[in-house]
Amino acid sequence: MKAYYINKYGEPEKVLVLKEVKKPIPKDNEVLLRIHATTINDYDWCITRGKPYAYRLFFGIFKPRKKLHIPGMEVAGTVASVGPNATQFKPGDAVYGDTSDHGFGSFAEYMCLSEKALTHKPANMPFEEAASIPHAAMLALQGLRDVGQIQEGQKILINGGGGGVGTFGLQLAKLYNAEVTGVDTGKKLQMMQELGFDHVIDYKKEDFTKKGQYYDLILDCKTNRSPFAYLSVLHPNGKYVTVGGHMGKLLLLLFLKPLISLVSKKKLHIVALKHNKDLAYINKLYEADQIKCVIDGPYTLEKVPWAIRHFGEGKHSGKIVISIR
Ligand SMILES: NC(=O)c1ccc[n+]([C@@H]2O[C@H](COP(=O)([O-])OP(=O)(O)OC[C@H]3O[C@@H](n4cnc5c(N)ncnc54)[C@H](OP(=O)(O)O)[C@@H]3O)[C@@H](O)[C@H]2O)c1
Repeated sequence: MKAYYINKYGEPEKVLVLKEVKKPIPKDNEVLLRIHATTINDYDWCITRGKPYAYRLFFGIFKPRKKLHIPGMEVAGTVASVGPNATQFKPGDAVYGDTSDHGFGSFAEYMCLSEKALTHKPANMPFEEAASIPHAAMLALQGLRDVGQIQEGQKILINGGGGGVGTFGLQLAKLYNAEVTGVDTGKKLQMMQELGFDHVIDYKKEDFTKKGQYYDLILDCKTNRSPFAYLSVLHPNGKYVTVGGHMGKLLLLLFLKPLISLVSKKKLHIVALKHNKDLAYINKLYEADQIKCVIDGPYTLEKVPWAIRHFGEGKHSGKIVISIR
């Protein structure tokens, strides 16, 4: 089978090597998955380059750890065979999931992974759309519903609204009849309006924290401002929820969060992703035509290094998908 290997940090085109290797054999409760689609995530951009440097504490100081040698963490595919203790799936089942709790390895034609990382795929959901769901949709759902405790008719702002999390976030917020503002780059604003954002702001032209508009809930995919700037545009009981972004700003937020809760009713939260937790709920929304996937691509397996750069340079809209047929 073909798989991308990485054993040093650097530019994606230089360090990712597409090799012919032996197909793995599933052990215990693993399944062997024939991968039909995978996606590009923030992690792939960080793992290949080893930047920000703080990530090397997890990925490996001088070079990526062995378990990262085949990167990639979202899959949709068909079960090819199952390990001796696997009970949930049988060969031929169409499945998808976020593999990162159990390891990486989706930039390949096949991978072995725990059956716990997988969920059945609805028949009407193409593999390319299924692969785009697990990470971004779970972050958006857990950010808005579980952490942000979204309420009917609230005024919501999504910072980074045109990316993977933002496009799912808008659609989930609309299930609560929220009035949603999306902040992103000018070229993504038309797609965002077509998807249903009530208001859009080009971050290169305007600063949403200086427009005199106030929000009940902010979902942030970038965390590129100080916590005080976010607090300044929240209603008195408002909540700010971030899924990730600038490392220094996230650390500051973590430090200030308990102090701010002593003096203000406004709340600051950071989402800790629970992998694959609510995919069955997303399946129901998809089958009822209440959610759709915004995809950039699909591109071929050979385009993975280019696609990682396309992501890193912020040229994508929605989720970048790689099709492996
Ligand atoms: N909490 C957890 O457990 C967890 C787990 C995994 C990942 N994450 C994090 O979740 C986030 C994933 O978000 P995603 O998949 O939606 O990323 P994404 O697809 O890259 O979307 C982010 C969007 O923000 C836009 N943007 C860039 N600079 C901006 C600015 N200054 N103001 C407003 N928008 C801006 C980007 O556009 P351009 O760049 O084109 O301008 C892009 O459209 C990442 O931060 C990742 O690290 C969190």
